[in-house]
Amino acid sequence: MGDMADGPRTIDLFSGAGGLSEGFRQAGFRVGLGLDFDEEACNTHAANHPDAKVLCTDVRGVSGADLLSETGFGEVDVMIGGPSCQGFSTQGRRGAWASEDDPRNLLYREFARLVGELRPEWFLLENVPGLLWFDRGSFGRRVFAAFEAHGYRVAHKIVLAADYGVPQLRRRLLVVGTRTGAAFPWPRQTHMGAVRRDAIELWERRRQEKFPHLAPHRTLWDAISDLPVLPDGGGEEESRYRTMPQSEYQALMRGENSLLFDHQSPVLPQVHYDLIRHVREGQTWREIPVELLPERFAKIRRTDGTNLFARPERTRPSYTIITQFGNVTTGAYTHPIQDRAFSAREGARIQSFPDSYRFYGNLTSKYRQIGNAVPPLLARTMAEALLLAIRGESGEDVLAAKRDLLIPEQLELPAAV
Ligand SMILES: C[S@@+](CC[C@H](N)C(=O)[O-])C[C@H]1O[C@@H](n2cnc3c(N)ncnc32)[C@H](O)[C@@H]1O
Repeated sequence: MGDMADGPRTIDLFSGAGGLSEGFRQAGFRVGLGLDFDEEACNTHAANHPDAKVLCTDVRGVSGADLLSETGFGEVDVMIGGPSCQGFSTQGRRGAWASEDDPRNLLYREFARLVGELRPEWFLLENVPGLLWFDRGSFGRRVFAAFEAHGYRVAHKIVLAADYGVPQLRRRLLVVGTRTGAAFPWPRQTHMGAVRRDAIELWERRRQEKFPHLAPHRTLWDAISDLPVLPDGGGEEESRYRTMPQSEYQALMRGENSLLFDHQSPVLPQVHYDLIRHVREGQTWREIPVELLPERFAKIRRTDGTNLFARPERTRPSYTIITQFGNVTTGAYTHPIQDRAFSAREGARIQSFPDSYRFYGNLTSKYRQIGNAVPPLLARTMAEALLLAIRGESGEDVLAAKRDLLIPEQLELPAAV
């Protein structure tokens, strides 16, 4: 691992804070360029990937030649990217505003256009699973066809980040394509556990009996229990650890890092404080007396699965971290035992960013960049599988495998993706 001078050459489109870049860097890829039009995300990428150039511009105005000339690479081996995905959100208003005319839904075409121009041997596209079944299931096929038109074979999989050691029940769509005849070995899961709360014991029994080689899912507490108490929010951009790591995961995230960055959360407005004090660990807005709830809750059925104002449990993986995880009203982002939202660093831990990873911009922007990212650990797992494929060590050809569009599994949560 580490920086291999001759690692495969990569360009990261829609690079954001660089979660995808980070996983590929850790696996030994050379990330030559990140492209994003968000200036603060560009600053974050630049600071954490000093060997990569950053092109801070709208992807719609660049050509493949523009990208190459920035990198100094003669060609690109693997193109990676996660176009913005709010347009496919599976949360709420889907019917009302998700449409093919939403420009955010057409960014995959930019990715496909640049794959067509630069002709990398491989590409990896990350997105929300909703992309597959958007527009009554036809959208996924259109996305695959855009790459097939350039001569690529395409396969996809929906993965749960927790199954790969990320302490989070984050489901994402991964699309891999190649113009070579090589096989792609989808990484095997390393961890196992339930998504639904009512199936925890069942899954743990199954793991112990049939899959003892898999570790249990990492939990929220594995991820953040060592971070100092901030009773009502606040905190500073730069502070100190107060304890030793309390889990193997915390030691992994800390590495050689000595200062604690971004352990900060907004101070909770009184109105939110008055609401969340009714909610204990593992509970949601349903515990809040009806007369205290904001007006909009009158329309939500008490039986629906929404996770608003929830306090996640310490003993389970976190629910999906989204761009607004600093706001307790939007999901399960209240600290399990302190009256505040997760700090930016806690979000970064839940996303598997190393503690040495610095984020730039104001706190809102940091939350957005962290929530938008591909968890570096998941990215690294995919990068390692691509390394095997590039070196021709991948065994059976699973690229030719499943092409049918998956039906979404009934999830208890997350309320947001
Ligand atoms: C989901 S985030 C990508 C996160 C990134 N893959 C990571 O792992 O950190 C999508 C990014 O696309 C960027 N973006 C959206 N539209 C864009 C455009 N037209 N040109 C360039 N970047 C764009 C957004 O600023 C955002 O940072």
